[in-house]
Amino acid sequence: MTILVTGSSGHLGANLVRRLLKDNHSVRVLLREESNNSAVDGLEVEKVYGDLRDLSSVVAAVKGCDRIYHTAAKISTIYGDANFQQELYDCNVLGTRNILRAALETGVKRVVVTSSSAALGYKPGEPSNENTPFYPFNPTLPYEFTKVFVEHEALKAFADGLDVVIVQSWAIIGPNDFKPSRMGQILLDFANGKLPAYTTGGRDWVATKDLVNAHILAMEKGRSGQTYTISSEYLTLPEMMVIFEKVTGRKRPMLCLPIGLMASIGKVLDMIISPIAPNAPRYITAGGLKLLATNQTADCSKAKTELGYQPTSIEQAVIEAYQDFVHRGLIKNPKGVISLNPTPSQPTTTLVGSK
Ligand SMILES: NC(=O)c1ccc[n+]([C@@H]2O[C@H](COP(=O)([O-])OP(=O)(O)OC[C@H]3O[C@@H](n4cnc5c(N)ncnc54)[C@H](OP(=O)(O)O)[C@@H]3O)[C@@H](O)[C@H]2O)c1
Repeated sequence: MTILVTGSSGHLGANLVRRLLKDNHSVRVLLREESNNSAVDGLEVEKVYGDLRDLSSVVAAVKGCDRIYHTAAKISTIYGDANFQQELYDCNVLGTRNILRAALETGVKRVVVTSSSAALGYKPGEPSNENTPFYPFNPTLPYEFTKVFVEHEALKAFADGLDVVIVQSWAIIGPNDFKPSRMGQILLDFANGKLPAYTTGGRDWVATKDLVNAHILAMEKGRSGQTYTISSEYLTLPEMMVIFEKVTGRKRPMLCLPIGLMASIGKVLDMIISPIAPNAPRYITAGGLKLLATNQTADCSKAKTELGYQPTSIEQAVIEAYQDFVHRGLIKNPKGVISLNPTPSQPTTTLVGSK
C-alpha cells in the first residue's frame, strides 16, 4: 500500500512521514522542486515533484496511492495584498480541490485532510469543538478563511463519494521543524538568548507526536465525512516560558508586555509595514496576536471518544523540539535538556541541569 503525504517538507508532514516509515509503510511525498526539502533528506520515500495548484502534477502524484494525508497548506498571519491572497486561496482551497478530485478519479481509498482551529468558531469562556460554528463577520485572516473553505472542499468531495476525514490542528509544537514555525523560532530565540520580550494570552497547543497519532487514528478509525479537533493542552505564554526555562536552562526575558499592548504594537507595525512590504513575513503580526488574545481553548472529547485519542504533554513536545534544534546545531552553547540519542526524529529524554 502506497501512502501519499503532501506537505512533507513542513512541520506536521515531516513528523508524519517519519512515523509512517517507522510503521513500515511505503510513502510517496509531493514536493516542490524550488523549495527547501531538507525535511525529507535521507528518508526512504518516493519523491514526486509538482505543485498543488497544478492538477496534472497532482494527478501524477496521486496515481497508484491507496491513502493520502493532505497536510500541505500555505500558512500566514498577515493580510497581504491581492496577489498574496490569491496564492493562499489557490494553494489551500484549489489545491485541496485538486487533490480530492484526483483521489476520486484514481480510486484512492481514504484521504485525511488537515484543517485548523482557524475553521472553528469561538465563544468567550467556552471551549471550541467541531460543533462551534465559524462566524465570518468577526475580523478574520485570509488564511483562516481558506481553512474554512478547505473543509468545504472536503465535504463536497465526501458528498461526491470520496472517503474523507478532516483533522483540525491547533498550534503545533515539536521536533523536525525545518522552516521553522513561529513557535519553533520563538524557542530558538529563547534558547539562544535572543528573545527580547514575551507576552500574555494563551491558547490550546498540540504536540507534533499527538497530531501525527491523531492523523493515523483518523485514517484507521475516523468516520467518513467527520471532523475531529486535536489539541494537547492549554497554556498561557507565561506558562510556556516556564517550560522553556526548564528545558533550555535559560532565564526568560525580563520584559513581559500585556497582550493588549502587544496587539496594539502589532496593529501599528501592520499599518507601517503593509503599505511598503505587504507580503513580507514578520514575527509580530496583529493576526498572530489575535489568536493568543482570545485565549481560545479546545474540546477534543469527540476525538477521545471516537478515535481513542490520548493527548500527551506540551512540555515533552518542547523537550523534543529543543533536542532536535540542538542536534541540528541551531542552538549555541546548549545548557538545558541534552539528548543522548543522535537521531533527531526519535529523541530520548535526559534532563541535565534543569530543576
Ligand atoms: N503550524 C500550526 O501551528 C498549524 C495550526 C493549525 C493548523 N495547521 C495546519 O496543519 C497543516 C500543516 O502545517 P505545518 O505547520 O506543517 O505547515 P508548514 O510547516 O508551513 O508546511 C506547509 C507545507 O505545505 C506545502 N505547500 C504549501 N503550498 C503548497 C503547494 N502549492 N504545493 C505543494 N505543497 C505546498 C509546503 O511546501 P513548500 O516547502 O514547498 O513550501 C510545506 O511542505 C496545514 O494544513 C496547516 O494549515 C497548522
